Amino acid sequence: MLKGILNYAHYLLEEAIKKDELVIDATCGNGNDTLFLSTLVGEHGKVLAFDIQKEAIAATKQRIIANERTNVSLIHDSHENIAKYLPVHTNEKISGAIFNLGYLPKSDKKIITKPDSTIIAIDTLLNHLRKDGLIVIVVYHGHEGGKAEKEAILKYLFHLDQKQYSVLRYGFINQKNDPPFILAIQKKID
Ligand SMILES: C[S@@+](CC[C@H](N)C(=O)[O-])C[C@H]1O[C@@H](n2cnc3c(N)ncnc32)[C@H](O)[C@@H]1O
Repeated sequence: MLKGILNYAHYLLEEAIKKDELVIDATCGNGNDTLFLSTLVGEHGKVLAFDIQKEAIAATKQRIIANERTNVSLIHDSHENIAKYLPVHTNEKISGAIFNLGYLPKSDKKIITKPDSTIIAIDTLLNHLRKDGLIVIVVYHGHEGGKAEKEAILKYLFHLDQKQYSVLRYGFINQKNDPPFILAIQKKID
């Protein structure tokens, strides 16, 4: 069976990430992906989860407490500042990251991810990704501002050197109403 978008996003991450590793949820929202990443890396791994909205951080906090997780750090800041929060002493690499673009469901539709900050965050993550590490971006683009972000990211990824990165696009082309799709970037070198 063809996997749906969110299932496929998780499947890709599951393939790339091992126990005890460092991973990033760049847009934690209600914490679904944070919890999933927390399970993948296990109690000795680490998830850094970012969101610019207090409500999102609070919702994710509730979810990780309810699930008794101790391996998540919640960061109330934009993902464009990811570099500030990475461990400097160990120089530990990142094995995986996820973005769910757009707005928080049932919340203010004007608070959305934006092209410039999303691209800065992707660029930072690529610089800190280990070999075979993976960034998964779920691109929602039906809302106001979504098309511009989609175009900017595609343009940025289109120019990544194929010797260093594999870039995949996965989506259903016969669905109505601007269906979301996945962009995934795997690093081929150290
Ligand atoms: C589609 S929602 C994420 C859904 C989430 N993955 C979940 O499982 O519920 C997008 C989130 O991105 C957040 N966001 C927007 N701009 C951001 C930025 N620059 N840095 C971090 N988060 C941002 C929004 O506040 C919103 O919560």
